[in-house]
Amino acid sequence: MARRYKYDYLVIGSGVAGLWFALGVAASGRVAIVTKKARAESNTNYAQGGIASVWHEEDSVQSHVEDTLAAGAGLCDEDVVRTVITEGPREIRALIALGASFTKSKGQLHLGREGGHSHPRIVHAQDATGREVERALLGAIHAHDNIDVFEYHYALDLITEHHLGQYVTRLRPDVSCFGAYVYDEPNDEVHTFLSRVTMLATGGSCAVYRHTTNPLIATGDGIAMAYRAKARIANMEFVQFHPTALYRPETNTGAKPSFLISEAVRGFGAMLRNQDGVRFMPRYDPRAELAPRDIVARAIDDQLKQRGEDYVLLDVSHQNTSALEAEFPHIVKTCRRRGIDPARESIPVVPSAHYQCGGVQTDLEARTSIVGLLAAGEVACTGLHGANRLASNSLLEALVLSRRAANRAPDIAAVQNWNEAVPDWDATGTERPGEWVLISHNRDELQRVMWDYVGIVRSNLRLSRALRRTRLLYKEVEDFYDRTRISGALCELRNMIAVAYLIIRSAQMRRESRGLHYTLDYPDRMTAEQRPSLV
Ligand code: FAD
Ligand code: SIN
Repeated sequence: MARRYKYDYLVIGSGVAGLWFALGVAASGRVAIVTKKARAESNTNYAQGGIASVWHEEDSVQSHVEDTLAAGAGLCDEDVVRTVITEGPREIRALIALGASFTKSKGQLHLGREGGHSHPRIVHAQDATGREVERALLGAIHAHDNIDVFEYHYALDLITEHHLGQYVTRLRPDVSCFGAYVYDEPNDEVHTFLSRVTMLATGGSCAVYRHTTNPLIATGDGIAMAYRAKARIANMEFVQFHPTALYRPETNTGAKPSFLISEAVRGFGAMLRNQDGVRFMPRYDPRAELAPRDIVARAIDDQLKQRGEDYVLLDVSHQNTSALEAEFPHIVKTCRRRGIDPARESIPVVPSAHYQCGGVQTDLEARTSIVGLLAAGEVACTGLHGANRLASNSLLEALVLSRRAANRAPDIAAVQNWNEAVPDWDATGTERPGEWVLISHNRDELQRVMWDYVGIVRSNLRLSRALRRTRLLYKEVEDFYDRTRISGALCELRNMIAVAYLIIRSAQMRRESRGLHYTLDYPDRMTAEQRPSLV
C-alpha cells in the first residue's frame, strides 16, 4: 500500500555526498536515505585514483587553487575553489576518524600524482578509493539509529507548489520543495516522502553516452527532477571524457560500463602510444601524459581519427612489476582477468564519458534556487570545476559541500514545516508497460546519438542533428509515459532524454571552445563567452 512518510531530512542517493550529509545531520533530526539500487551502487563505489588534497610539505593551498583554476579554463568561481581546497584536509581527517583506511608510506599518507596537478596530492586507498570510502560511510550509517535507508526506492519527482495545483515557472523566486514521490520497486508502489529539507545527491549523468566509465545508475535523474521542478541548472555542456578506459571489443556495446584505467597509472609513469608504438602526447602538450584530461582525451581522439583505429595503447610495462601490482592491484587483476598483462604488454584504451561538470546550481552551502532543496556531489554545479574538472577534485567537493550543507540544514529545517496539503501520487488511468522493447531501443538510440554527435569534438551540424533526434525520442517517450504505469526503466529513460536535451542546448548556446566543450565551428576561446551557461 502506498504510504506517507515524514522525515526531517530526505536524502536522495547513497554515494559519498548523500551519506556524508546524512551523517552530518542525523544528530539534529530523523533522516531517510532513498536509493534506487543496492545501497553501495554509486559512482563513488568505483572511484579509483583518490581524493585531491594538500598534504605534502612542498605543496600549498595556493598551488592546488591555481591548478584547479587552470583546468577550469576561466569558468571556476575562485571563492568556491579556495574554500573547497582549504577545507578538504579536515574532511579527510574526519573520514579517517570514521574508519576509512588510506594507503600509507613510512607512516604518512601516500600521495598519488594525476594529470594537471603540480604536486603529488592524491590521497587514496590503493586503486579502489571509492570502495573504501563507501564501506566506511555505510558502516557508520548502519550504526546510526536516526537514519533509515530505503534501497530499491527510486525518486520520481521533487514535490513543489506545482503538485498543489499552482503554476510554477523558473522565474518565480519562491518555489519550495516539500519532499519527493518515490517508487518502491519491490512493492510496485509510489510513496510520498514529506521532508523539511531535501538533499539531492543523485550523482552524474554519463550513462547518457554509449561509452562511459559510470555504472548504470548514472542517468542524471537528479538533474532532470530539478529541471522539472524549475531549479536553475548550469554548465551542462561540460562533460568530461576520461582518456583511458579499457578497450574491449566485446564490451564495446554501450550496455556495460567501460572499466577505468586510473589516471594515477599515468602518474606512475605509463605512456600513451599509437598502434605503431609511437609515443604521441609530447606532440600535443609539454605536460605529455599528465596534461589535463580534456587535452589528453582530444589528443587520443585525434590519433584515432587520423589513423582510423579503434584504440591507442597505454604502456606501463617498463615500470617495476611488484610496485605496479602493489599500487594498482584492482586494475592489474581486472586486466589480467580480461587477458591483458599490464606488466608485459600495453593496455588498449579509449576515451569514455566520465563526469558531468555542470548540474544543479548551488551556493557554498549547497542551496539550490528552490527553497528547502539542497544539492551536493556530482549532481551539483558549485563553480569548483568550471569548464573542466581537475582529477580527483570531485570526491573532495562532495565531502566539503555535504559538510557545509549539513552544518546549515538544521536552520532551514527549523523554519520549514511538513506540507500536509501535498496529495498522494496519482496513478489512475495508466496501464502496465507491454512494450519494453521501446524503452531499451530508445535508450540505446539516445546513447548512440550522444556519443556520435555530442562527444569530444562537436559541431553545429552534429548538435542540431542530435537535437532533432532527441526531440523525436522525447515525443515518443512522453506519449508512452502518459499511458503507462510507472517503472524505474521508463523514468530513467525520460530523465536521460531531459539531460541529453540540456547538454545539447547548452553546447549550442556556447559559441566558442573552452575546457571540455570543443566545437569545430568556434575553435577559439572567446572573452565574451566567459560565463557559466544557465538554463
Ligand atoms: P554517486 O556516488 O554516483 O551516488 C549517487 C547515488 O544516487 C547512488 O546511490 C544512486 O543509486 C542514487 N540515485 C540516483 N538517482 C536516483 C533516484 N532517482 N532515486 C534514488 N536514488 C538515486 N572522483 C574523484 O574525485 N576521484 C577519483 O578517483 C574518481 N574516480 C572515479 C572512477 C570512476 C570509474 C568513476 C565512474 C568516477 C570517478 N570519480 C572520481 C568521480 C566520483 O566518483 C563521483 O563524482 C562521486 O563519487 C559522485 O558522488 P555522488 O555522491 O555525487 O554520486
Ligand atoms: C582516475 O582514477 O583516473 C579517476 C580520477 C577522477 O575521475 O577524478
